[in-house]
Amino acid sequence: MSNFKLKATHAPVKAYYETLERFGRGKFDNEGNIRRAFETLLEKCARGYEWFLVAEYPIPRTGRNPLKVDAAVLDAFNLPRGYWEAKDEKDDLKAEMNMKFAEGYPRTNILFQKPTHAILFQDGRIEFDGPITDPEKLVDVLRLFFEWRQPHQEDWDRAVREFSERIPEIAKGAMTLIAGERKSNPAFVARFTAFAELCRESINPDLKDEAVEEMLVQHLLTERIFRRIFDNPEFTRRNVIAAEIEKVIDSLTKKHFSRDSFLRDLDPFYKAIEEAAATTESYTEKQAFLNKVYERFFQGFNQKQADTHGIVYTPQPIVDFMVRSVEEVLKTEFGRSLSDKGVHILDPFVGTGNFITRVMKEIRTSSLPHKYKEELHCNEVMLLPYYIASMNIEHAYLDRVEEYEPFEGICLADTFDMRAQVTMFAETNTLRIRRQRQAPIFVVVGNPPYNVSQENENDNNKNRRYRKDGGVDLRIAETYSKSSNAMNKNILNDPYVKAIRWASDRITPEGVVALVTNNGFIDGLAADGMRMHLQREYDEIFIIDLGGNVRKNPKLSGTTHNVFGIQVGVSINLFVRKRRNAIEQRDCKINYFATDEFWTRQQKCAFLESTPSLKSIEWRTLQPNLQNNWLIEGTASGFEALIPIGSQEVKTGTADASIFRDFSRGAETTRDAWSFNFSLGTVAANIRKMIGFYNSEVVRWLTERTTTDRIDSFVGSDDTKIKWCSKLKKSAEVGTKAIFQEDQIAKAMYRPFTLMYLYFEDTLTHRRGRLPWFFPSGMKNAAITVPGPGNRQSFGGFAVELIPALDFAFEKTQCFPFYTYDEDGTNRRENITDWALGEFRKHYGEQSISKWDIFHYTYGLLHHPEYRTRYAANLKRELPRIPMAPDFKRYAEIGAALMKLHIEYEKQAEYPLERRETGRLNWRVEKMALSKDKTQLRYNEFLTLSGIPAEAYEYRLGNRSALEWVVDQYRVSTDKRSGIVNDPNREDDPEYIVRLIGQVVTVSVETVRLVKELAALSIDQV
Ligand SMILES: C[S@@+](CC[C@H](N)C(=O)[O-])C[C@H]1O[C@@H](n2cnc3c(N)ncnc32)[C@H](O)[C@@H]1O
Repeated sequence: MSNFKLKATHAPVKAYYETLERFGRGKFDNEGNIRRAFETLLEKCARGYEWFLVAEYPIPRTGRNPLKVDAAVLDAFNLPRGYWEAKDEKDDLKAEMNMKFAEGYPRTNILFQKPTHAILFQDGRIEFDGPITDPEKLVDVLRLFFEWRQPHQEDWDRAVREFSERIPEIAKGAMTLIAGERKSNPAFVARFTAFAELCRESINPDLKDEAVEEMLVQHLLTERIFRRIFDNPEFTRRNVIAAEIEKVIDSLTKKHFSRDSFLRDLDPFYKAIEEAAATTESYTEKQAFLNKVYERFFQGFNQKQADTHGIVYTPQPIVDFMVRSVEEVLKTEFGRSLSDKGVHILDPFVGTGNFITRVMKEIRTSSLPHKYKEELHCNEVMLLPYYIASMNIEHAYLDRVEEYEPFEGICLADTFDMRAQVTMFAETNTLRIRRQRQAPIFVVVGNPPYNVSQENENDNNKNRRYRKDGGVDLRIAETYSKSSNAMNKNILNDPYVKAIRWASDRITPEGVVALVTNNGFIDGLAADGMRMHLQREYDEIFIIDLGGNVRKNPKLSGTTHNVFGIQVGVSINLFVRKRRNAIEQRDCKINYFATDEFWTRQQKCAFLESTPSLKSIEWRTLQPNLQNNWLIEGTASGFEALIPIGSQEVKTGTADASIFRDFSRGAETTRDAWSFNFSLGTVAANIRKMIGFYNSEVVRWLTERTTTDRIDSFVGSDDTKIKWCSKLKKSAEVGTKAIFQEDQIAKAMYRPFTLMYLYFEDTLTHRRGRLPWFFPSGMKNAAITVPGPGNRQSFGGFAVELIPALDFAFEKTQCFPFYTYDEDGTNRRENITDWALGEFRKHYGEQSISKWDIFHYTYGLLHHPEYRTRYAANLKRELPRIPMAPDFKRYAEIGAALMKLHIEYEKQAEYPLERRETGRLNWRVEKMALSKDKTQLRYNEFLTLSGIPAEAYEYRLGNRSALEWVVDQYRVSTDKRSGIVNDPNREDDPEYIVRLIGQVVTVSVETVRLVKELAALSIDQV
C-alpha cells in the first residue's frame, strides 16, 4: 500500500491555490507565502512516510563549501529521499535547473518548482515538465517525487523491512539451536558455563543463563551481518570481545561441518538482504539497516532488555544539535574545542555509536588521529550495540583518515560499575576500562536509558542497583534524595537520574555534561533535591524541553509528538561547570526553552536542525524559589501563607499548624484486579486461589532453594495464579504464610460512585497506609479526598464514607477523615486539630464554630471555582492550603450540603431522564455508550436514556465527568493478565445501575448549582 495520501481535494492543496489566487493576480508580489504553502504540501506528504523536510539542506562537496539546496526530504535515518528548489515566477525554470546541475546539484530526484510550473528530474532525466495550475497535475508530480526510489533502493528497502520484521524469528531460531547444544554438546556446555561465569563477574552478578544465551545470539546475528553484508570478515578477529566469544561459538559449531552449515536453518531469512546488499556500496544505507537491527532485536525479541536498558536509536537532528552545542559551550566558556588536546570526551551509553561518530565529524582532520587514539571514550553494556558501535566508529575513522585503526576507546562494561580490580571480560577490555577510569573526562555526551522501575512485579525485570563502595545509588541517596522534601522518591531510581549524578561526579573539577533524558527532573516533586544539587554543582544549565509526556497531556500521542516515539517527556540538557576556588559560590544560571507542546516529532527535529547554536535560542532564565522549584509560573504567590490541610510535621507530632492531624494515601493493593471486585464471592475465590499458590511457593522456597537462588527468579509468576509485589516477595522470602480472612473483605470506593468489595488484609495489600485507623474493619467515616502531591493533571475533591482506592478519582488520592480510631475500632477522636479550632474561632471571633464546621468549610472552599483557578498550579503540585475567607458560615453550609450530596449519592432522587424501551425487558449492562452529542445514553439493547442535561458534564472529577465515571466503570470487563472478570450487574438489585445513572445526574446538576452559589463568595483571606 502506498504511503502517498495526498488528494487534489485536500486542504493543503486548496491552501496552495488560494495563496496563488490571493497573492498572484498576475503580479506574484508575495512569493514567500506561495513557497511556504508549497512547503506545507511537501511536509504533509512526507509525514505519510514518517519522513521530514529540512530547509537549507547542505550537500557536501570534496574540497569546496557544501551546496545548499532549498530543502531536502529526509527519511527516519536521515537519508535524503529527494530535493526541492523553489524559484520565482519570473525565472526560467529550465535555465535555473541547468545552472544548478553545473554547480553539482544531485540528479537523482530533484523538483524545480515555481508557483505555476514544475520540472521533476529523476535518475538523470526529466520525468515531468509542465504547469501545475491544475490540482490533479500538482498531486501527480508530488506523487512521482515521493514514490521515487533509487533503482536498487526499492529492493533494498523491501529486504530491510522484511529482514527487520523477521529478526525475532531469527533470534528465536538461534536460541533453539543453542538450547539444543546445551543439552547434547558437552564441550559447549563446559565453555558456556565458564563464559557465563565470566559475564557475571564482569557485567552483572545477576545475569541469568538465558541472557548469556542471548549474547551468543547477538554475536551470531551481527557476525553474519558484518561478514556477509558489510564484507568485513575480519571483525571477529580484530574485535577483542568478539575474539573471546568466538572461542565459545567454535565449540558450538565444532560438531557441525562449519558455522554456515550449523546456521543453515537460518539461511532463508538472510537470503534477500544479502542479495540486496550486493547491489549497494553505500555504507550510510547499510548503517541505517544496522540501526534498525539494533532497535528491532531488542524491541521485537527482547522487550525486557529494551525497557531496562533504554534501547532506542537517537534521531540524528538531536545528536547534531547536542554536539554542535557542546562545541559552542567549549568555545565560549572555556576557550577550548572538541579538537583540542586534553579535552577527553565520553559517551557512557554508546548504543550504535552515533554521538561518538558525530563528535569525530566535528573534530579537525589533523587532530583526529590523536583524539581517536587517546581521548575518545565510550561504554556499552549490551553486546549487539557494542559491536555495531565498534564497527561504525572504526568505519567513520577509515572514511576520514583512509586507514584502518582499531578503536580502543570502547569498553564492554556497565558504566555504573567500572571496577578496576577484576578482569572485565577480556584482558584488553580490562586495560581499556582502567585507562578510561584514569582519563580526565571533560565532556560527557549521550543518551542514557530512562525508566523508573518495572510496572509489574510478575515481570521480574528490575533495574540493577548500585549500592556498594560509592556506587551511584549511594551518591543519589546522600545528595538528591537526602535534600528532597518529597514523601515518595521513586523517580530518583530512574537510570537517567543515575546518569546525571554519575556524570556530574565524573567531570570533576570542570567540564560539560550533555545528555538527552526524561524531562521529569525539571518539575518533578521528588526532584527538588536533585535540582538543588544541580544548581550548586553547575555554573550554567541549558534545557531544551522537547515535551511529549503523554500522561501529562493525554491529547498528545507518543508516536506523533514525542521525539523518540515514547510516552515520557524528553529534554536536551547541557550542564556547564567551571573550576572554582573552594570559597567561591556558584551562582547558577538556568536557561530554559520549551518547544511548542503540539509540535510533531518532525517539527521538533526540524527546529533542532535549523537552530545553528545555543545563542540563537530565546532562553527564559528560570528563577528557582526557596523550595527549589524551577517552573513556578502559574503558581500564585501567597499560597504558602495559607493554612495547610495536612502536613508531615503535624502528622508526626513535631508541629501543630494544620487543619487535619492525620491523613493517608488511598488503598494501594498493586493487584486491583484481584483485590477489588463488584462481587464478594469473586474476591473471596480469587484471593483464596492466590493464597493457595503463594503458600505453596513459600513451602517450595523453604524446602527446595539452593544457596544461589534468589526469590525474584525462584517463584512462579503465572499471571493467572498470583500478582506479586515487592512486599509479598519479601514475605515469601522470610517464609511468612498467608491466611485467608473473610472478615478482611470490606466495601470500598474503587472509583467515584463505584462501590466494590476489597480484600484489605495486610500481607496481601501492598500499602494500607493509615486507612485501618480511619475505617477499622470497614466501618464508615466521613473523609475528604484530593489528589496526592506530585505533577497532577488536575485538582478536585470528593467526600467518601468508605475506604477510597489509591487512584480513586484523582491521581494518588490522599484522604482526610473526620474521625480516627484505634485499629480495633475503639477510641474515636476528631481529626481536626485543636490548633485549627482555636485559629478559626479566634479569626472569626466566633466561639460556636465546631470541628464539623471547619470540616464542611474546607470541603466548600475546595470546590470554589476561583480558588481552583487562582491556585491551579499550586494545587497540581502540593496538598491544598486554605484561606480564611469572609462568610465562614455560608461556606460551611454549602460545604455540608455538597458533602451530604456526595456521600449519600445512592439516596438522591433520580433525575427525570426519558426512557426509550425496545424488545424484552432486560436490565443487564455489558457496556454502556453515550451518544456523540452526549444527550443520550445507550444502556443496553432494551433501553436508551435521553434528555441528559448539559450540566451533568460540568461536574468533573479528575479527567471525567461524574456520569462518564459511571459509564466507564459499570461494564463487564476482563483483566488482560489475570483473566479475572468483573461484572457490575447485581442479582439482588437488577435496577441498581439504571437508578444510579439518574441519581448521579441529580448529584451533578445539584453540585453545579451549589458551586455557582459558592462562586459568589470571596476567597480572599480576611
Ligand atoms: C538510549 S541508548 C543510546 C542510543 C545511542 N545514542 C544511539 O542512538 O544509538 C542507551 C544505550 O546504553 C546502553 N546502556 C544502558 N545502560 C548502560 C550502562 N549501565 N552502562 C553502559 N551502557 C548502558 C544500552 O544498552 C543502550 O544501547
